[in-house]
Amino acid sequence: MKTLFSGVQPSGIPTIGNYLGAYKQFTELQHEYDSYFCIVDQHAITVPQDRLKLRENTKTLAAIYLASGLDPEKITLFVQSEVSAHAKAAWMLQSVTYIGELERMTQYKDKARKQSAKEGINAGLLTYPTLMAADILLYGASIVPVGDDQNQHLELTRTLAERFNNRYNDIFTVPEVKLPEVGGRIMSLNEPTKKMSKSDDNAKSYISLLDNPKTAAKKIRSAVTDSGSEIRFDKENKPGISNLLVIYSGLTGQSIKDLEAEYEGKSYGEFKTALGEVVESFLTDFQERVNEYVESGRIDDILDEGRERASRKADKMVEKMERAMGLGRKR
Ligand code: TYM
Repeated sequence: MKTLFSGVQPSGIPTIGNYLGAYKQFTELQHEYDSYFCIVDQHAITVPQDRLKLRENTKTLAAIYLASGLDPEKITLFVQSEVSAHAKAAWMLQSVTYIGELERMTQYKDKARKQSAKEGINAGLLTYPTLMAADILLYGASIVPVGDDQNQHLELTRTLAERFNNRYNDIFTVPEVKLPEVGGRIMSLNEPTKKMSKSDDNAKSYISLLDNPKTAAKKIRSAVTDSGSEIRFDKENKPGISNLLVIYSGLTGQSIKDLEAEYEGKSYGEFKTALGEVVESFLTDFQERVNEYVESGRIDDILDEGRERASRKADKMVEKMERAMGLGRKR
């Protein structure tokens, strides 16, 4: 069975964008692959975090992963900082990464701009993609389901895997990215030309998976729409309505074509009220499952077991990397 790897940062509560871009794919693919899912807390500290909040979010994120429909008996769910192989492999990979490659990453450029306005840019922000490459390569993952914004990081991961294989020893699987058919880039509700993000200062721009369902429906009803009145998918000219169509399609499985036909001649208001109801009922069910996991008291056991399984696999790869690079003594 081939291996799948993906990760989500505990830097806040995930949004409906994270759900449609990532979690939904995880659930669909979990049975086809030996699947590793990671709560990437070492990535999260590349921007300032409150330490207590970070720990709380780490546990909540585990419940959210599981509530999305992952089967804890089948998959491996773990916390990145609890598996020391990640930091070790990232360090080794830094030696095969060029600074220019890291400086070209658009996520780095965006975040660096924000950080430099306040303080210096920390080095972790720059080397973030080598840690991400380590995450993936340690498990020999052949597939990595993510949203569109991670595509560039995946390209770099592939480059680093090939470079290491050529320079040292052919030990890494070169992974393929898996983007969702619909929902790879969910946009902000009030600025639909910008990506929806859990770290946006304006809470009206995103729907958090733990938002009160009624408040979330209201956010949909007040989402920015476009000029005209037709409910039609046209990203260029109708970014607001197109984004809402994608969310509707992603949550219900109805195709965008069918939705356009269903809402032909109807107003934006009617469409948004209907989508508000879809979102409200989705969140109500989702949050019920999150609470069931939190109350079950099983999360720590699942993460403990995940740490053991992940460490066993990742430690073996670290040993291979060290051997290939000549680190330590002969074993
Ligand atoms: P993160 O935590 O920002 O996001 C988690 C996942 O959600 C996707 N996503 C979106 N999808 C659709 N629309 C959006 N608006 C949206 N926003 C986020 C992301 O593409 C991602 O799949 N660097 C990664 C975490 C990571 C990782 C890894 C992922 C670390 N190591 C190894 C895969 C493999 C990140 O910051 O994701």
